[in-house]
Amino acid sequence: MNRQTGTASQRAATLRDAIDDANYRYYVLDDPSIPDAEYDRLMRELEALEAAHPELATPDSPTRRVGARPASGFAEVRHAIPMLSLSNAFTDPDAPDGVDPDHEVRDFVRRVVQGLGIADPEFAVEPKLDGLAISLRYEDGVFVQGATRGDGATGEDVTANLRTVKAIPLRLRSGKNEHDPLRLRSGKNGHDPLRLRSGKNGHAPLRLHGHDWPRVLEVRGEVYMPKAGFDAYNARMLREGGKPLANPRNGAAGSLRQLDPHVTAGRPLAFYAYGVNLPPDPDAVIADRHSAAMAKLRAWGFPTCPQNGIARGADGCLAYFHRIGAQRDKLPYGIDGVVYKVDRYDQQRELGFVARAPRWAIAHKFPAEEQATVVEAIDIQIGRTGAATPVARLKPVQVAGVTVTNATLHNADQVARLDVRVGDSVIVRRAGDVIPEVVRVIPERRPPHTKPWKMPAHCPICGSAIEREEGEAAARCTGGLVCAAQRREAIRHFASRRAMDIDGLGERYIEDLIAFDYLHSPADLYKLTLDDFLAMKRRAEERDGVVPETVKAGKIATKWADNLVAAIDASKDTTLERFLFALGIPEVGEATAKTLARHFGSLDALIHASEAELTEVPDVGPIMAAHIAAFFAEPRNREVIAALRKAGVHWKESAPQRKADGPLADKTVVLTGSLSSLTRDEAKDKLEALGAKVAGSVSKKTSFVVAGEAAGSKLDKAEALGVEVWDEAKLLGFLKSHGG
Ligand code: IVH
Repeated sequence: MNRQTGTASQRAATLRDAIDDANYRYYVLDDPSIPDAEYDRLMRELEALEAAHPELATPDSPTRRVGARPASGFAEVRHAIPMLSLSNAFTDPDAPDGVDPDHEVRDFVRRVVQGLGIADPEFAVEPKLDGLAISLRYEDGVFVQGATRGDGATGEDVTANLRTVKAIPLRLRSGKNEHDPLRLRSGKNGHDPLRLRSGKNGHAPLRLHGHDWPRVLEVRGEVYMPKAGFDAYNARMLREGGKPLANPRNGAAGSLRQLDPHVTAGRPLAFYAYGVNLPPDPDAVIADRHSAAMAKLRAWGFPTCPQNGIARGADGCLAYFHRIGAQRDKLPYGIDGVVYKVDRYDQQRELGFVARAPRWAIAHKFPAEEQATVVEAIDIQIGRTGAATPVARLKPVQVAGVTVTNATLHNADQVARLDVRVGDSVIVRRAGDVIPEVVRVIPERRPPHTKPWKMPAHCPICGSAIEREEGEAAARCTGGLVCAAQRREAIRHFASRRAMDIDGLGERYIEDLIAFDYLHSPADLYKLTLDDFLAMKRRAEERDGVVPETVKAGKIATKWADNLVAAIDASKDTTLERFLFALGIPEVGEATAKTLARHFGSLDALIHASEAELTEVPDVGPIMAAHIAAFFAEPRNREVIAALRKAGVHWKESAPQRKADGPLADKTVVLTGSLSSLTRDEAKDKLEALGAKVAGSVSKKTSFVVAGEAAGSKLDKAEALGVEVWDEAKLLGFLKSHGG
């Protein structure tokens, strides 16, 4: 674009269009068109231009997102059309036999079917976003007012704060945008991120071609805080000593309630539209059905949730509920259920409302992820490396459909921060497959005479001192392999599938072998005989008072023990990287074990490496180097290693490979989603064999992302950062041409 060709006013208009387009591509199409730096440059140029020519500044200019704070508190806004709420339906996890756990949803669908006299009405099905409901008013295509729901009739005027949310358009687009894959697919359900993204357009500027929006438009939707933004914000607060947000929902609500819009502007907020009105007529519509109206809103510049779909009947709705439930943890935004809405507006009108909720919609909620219960005790649990983790023993409580009796308190600092005491009522949270945790104490319910909790000075298992090193979050039992708890965890880790892979040696056997003194270190595993296993089993059966299997069977059952002896024997033939991982060196995970094995080639080379030599290994920092050196300097560890080798544990050693080579040397690759022709481990091995480093998360340093089926937030992040994305075919082609 040439500065000389237009006047300042034309240039300002061009810049505004370009910035609005970039926002639209980013927030609505999820297909960023320009890098952040380019966006910033356009913004700075427009700011400079408006500063030099104040008469050019328009209220809907993207430079005007952050304005002045309201003089005194938030004004009240009376909603032109009331903001209703939804009735809830739940799936009953404890439904007795013969009772349909989903009867609330089926009853809702039955009422709709009966009310309409139509057998199979269509439902718009949408995630129930966990944020804050808001209403946005546009006059002649320009955003003029935004309000919270309040009591449904009257809300708070948070216009200045909403203007800072970049996903909310300050002015409407033309509506004639044929570039939007979701718009073209509107009415279809099923979300296929790869297909959506395959519709990449050529990034030609989208032009405004006149408009087709009504004079007054009210768009309703949810302001929410994306999970990634929430995590990044809290990480920054913890680093800078600021106050972290309790959860993304509170984050969104609290951010909008700030009096100073500058504060809101610094919060990572986003928006999805889920409703539209044409005040003052509550029956006026922009399309014949909800899903078509949402498609129109997208074309006008409003983001809508990509997971929205269409379903038929109760079974279709329930299938959607389960599908979204299964994706929940991977979605980039928080939800607390799904919403079913009769799609056709004429059918909605026919059904009407009861009290404050429509008869044509219902929220099907997931079971609550947070519940209150009482802390009956605080114990500590000793991990493999001695880390002492405080654990709250709870009065049993149902959380998200599962009975929870223990919740982690992470470490002593966390207990102190929350000030959790025995006897306290607390909120426990269990989200997805994350272990349950205590999120806060309910101070009003604290009984009298409680005492702050303190980390015990001695290990409850072995009596050794518990110590905490400067700068470390974890306190540790200093007992090492003397401590039965550490021994159990160390041996369990040693035998695990990704380490020495001793098939069939479960936690129970390990515990009993330790209890009856057969195992002091992993090396003792290789001394165990068939008779040892049988004797161990006999003693455990006596202790537990169970009828010995030997008597039950009328003969001695030994196959399980034969198998174990054979599995232990087979594990002797291993690889250096597995062996290093199995040793359980603090800080050394699978990836580092592999790097170390490759770099040094032999165990002796590694054992004799200095800390300085260790830090030369890619990804080994000074802390890890110190841990590795300390581990090999410890005589007890050397004894265990010598005993393992003497017992016959062996691997192929190779020449040290000090520099990574291969066609992918210096490349960092991230795998996401599932591949159809390779497991993730296989893909990782093959990429590493060509010199790549395979990392777990996407950053600006990522060279490319390999995205398989159902790729989630990593793919989103890659696209947002402009990182190259490979599909499976491209990966296979590359591997093939490099002999992989
Ligand atoms: S429709 C009359 N759709 O749920 C229907 N609401 O009680 C009005 N919510 O506070 C709401 N996601 O903030 C609708 N896809 C969605 C939603 C949704 C979240 C919230 C909304 C409101 C509550 C309804």
